[in-house]
Amino acid sequence: MNDKYDYYERYSDYQEQYTRPNDRRSRRKRKKVAHHVAKKSEDDIIAEIAETIGLEGGFETTYTPSLHEETFLLEAVRPFYTEELISDVLMLVKGGKEANVYCCKAGVGSSSDLLAAKVYRPRKFRTIRNDAVYRQGRTILDNDGNEVRDSRELRALAKKSGFGINIQHTSWLVHEFVAMSELWEAGAAVPQPYEVGDNAILMEYVGDATMAAPTLQSVRLEKRHAKRLLEKLLFNIELMLTKGWIHGDLSAFNVLYWHEDVTVIDFPQVINPTRNRDAYNLLLRDVQRVCDYFARQRMHVDARVFTHDLWQRHFSQRQDDRLADESRFEIEVSE
Ligand SMILES: Nc1ncnc2c1ncn2[C@@H]1O[C@H](COP(=O)(O)OP(=O)(O)OP(=O)(O)O)[C@@H](O)[C@H]1O
Ligand SMILES: [Mg+2]
Repeated sequence: MNDKYDYYERYSDYQEQYTRPNDRRSRRKRKKVAHHVAKKSEDDIIAEIAETIGLEGGFETTYTPSLHEETFLLEAVRPFYTEELISDVLMLVKGGKEANVYCCKAGVGSSSDLLAAKVYRPRKFRTIRNDAVYRQGRTILDNDGNEVRDSRELRALAKKSGFGINIQHTSWLVHEFVAMSELWEAGAAVPQPYEVGDNAILMEYVGDATMAAPTLQSVRLEKRHAKRLLEKLLFNIELMLTKGWIHGDLSAFNVLYWHEDVTVIDFPQVINPTRNRDAYNLLLRDVQRVCDYFARQRMHVDARVFTHDLWQRHFSQRQDDRLADESRFEIEVSE
């Protein structure tokens, strides 16, 4: 209804009020005057839902989220709260393109003091990434980490319906959790993952109560640490490969630096080296970005040589002599 129409409607109502005969029958026939009821804003509705979620769950957080954040944060971490894995959300560590990471107080069910909850942003707030390259050769995983085979779900995925997009979204999250779990078990330098929910992953927190670990990108390493850390990262790239994973988005932005040590994070886009046509190039890009960062710290490794050597050893030769022996690549130190 446009404003003009509305105006005439009302006008005729008023006119009727002054000219109407005041008998019962006419009163009954009379149209009701539409009283203007203020519409609830989207923010009011979100706030109401968030309040219900928080209160019903008996879950109040030290951290005060913004209005839009509150709903998705509380919904996502409430299962962790219910399982007593966390007892509070203390601070927002970082709002990223795809996810927000929060520092949480661990619950009685956990052995650490602090945990990190990576909460994926609702689809409309997330930056759409060009994900086709990562999806090649990937199985779609459900919440339990099993391959999606149900024909209705497969149809929804193909049609990219809302339901299909949700399945795809869960699959990213579960891939991240599965990869982190396997890598952590294998001794890789990744945060220990604890639990995965519909929209969040709970994992080891790197940092302390005052600050989260910075990314490698934002620190300048002392020379005495740089060589060891470069070796450690190259070793981890190789370890990942032996477990069937390539990070796919590795760079100094996705490595945390804390107590002179490194931890690799951010795994939703992990790819399978044998099933993805672009695996070699994605591996090379990961290695190149790590080498570029260390070149700025005056440590030089030829990324192409390293990647080629790695690939040869793992995919062209015997599979049992797998892990790097450090003499296979050389680090040149410049003054
Ligand atoms: N386990 C953790 N402990 C401490 N801080 C963390 C942890 N995991 C992630 N972070 C912080 O949260 C940021 C975002 O995490 P992550 O890289 O996994 O998500 P993202 O959506 O890719 O974000 P971005 O777009 O910023 O890369 C990281 O850069 C880091 O600062
Ligand atoms: Mg990241």
